[in-house]
Parts: sequence; C-alpha cells; structure tokens
Amino acid sequence: THVLVLNGPNLGRLGRREPQIYGTLTHAALREHLVAVGHDLGLRVDVRQTDAEAQMIDWLHEAADNRIPVVINPAAWSHYSIAIADAVAQLEAPAIEVHLSNIATREEFRHHSVVSAYVTGTIIGLGASGYDYALEHITALMEHPQE
Ligand code: DQA
Repeated sequence: THVLVLNGPNLGRLGRREPQIYGTLTHAALREHLVAVGHDLGLRVDVRQTDAEAQMIDWLHEAADNRIPVVINPAAWSHYSIAIADAVAQLEAPAIEVHLSNIATREEFRHHSVVSAYVTGTIIGLGASGYDYALEHITALMEHPQE
C-alpha cells in the first residue's frame, strides 16, 4: 500500500524549530525513519513537506483521486484553513491527523482544528511516534477494513 505523509508549514525546520516543543529530530531524519517503519509494515511511505497551501491541496487531490491513505500534520493550517479542510474532506481512504505537540495544552488558538472533522482519527501530543502509530493504524485498517 502506498501512503502519503504530508507535513505543513514550518515542519521542514523540525530539529531547529522550538526543539523543546517539537523535538530534535530533523524532517530529513523523520522521513528516513518513517520510510523504514513503513517498509517493516509493508507500506510504501512517501513523506512530503511544504510551506505552500496550494502545493498541499494539490497533494491532497492526488491522494483523493488515487484513494491513497494519508497521514497529515496540517501544522498552523489546522487552525484556520477551510481550503485544507475541504481538500481533506474529499479523501476516501483513511486519513489520520497528527500533531507532535499536545495542542490542547497550548495557546487557545491551537485548541481547535478545522481539519479534525474530516479525518478518520487524530493523534496529538505523542511527538514523532504519533506518525509511527498512524502508519500502524493504517496497516491494521488495510488488513481489517471494518475496524
Ligand atoms: C503542530 C501544532 C500547530 O499548532 C503548529 O502550528 C505546528 C505544529 C504540531 O505538530 O504540534 O506547526 O501541528
């Protein structure tokens, strides 16, 4: 199974960006890790990051058209982008939203995600392992689609 892991704005700066909040793993290291985790699970994982909303929407359309499962961290877009939410709403395969930090314990403006209503489920506050769990869940869903 092909899976897209899509990371939104500022996540390309992982490792350098507020490491006390987002950890010390770089985006390149995260990609390498998730490709390896995916390989062990029998998934072909494609990890992409963009700071451009149009690019993210394009990737979501690609996933919608090809029924590709998605793991998405919409980053700041989570909190206000109806365009990203509308694109996620078109996905037919499983979609899991991941946030590295526990957005519920942070500033008020991070508490709500406009994307969450359109995903299969959300993993927040577990750091980079959240992506691993999302890939494991997608594997389980592929094996037992009713769960
Ligand atoms: C984030 C949380 C968002 O509030 C923030 O804008 C991000 C990253 C997270 O992974 O914890 O860029 O999505």
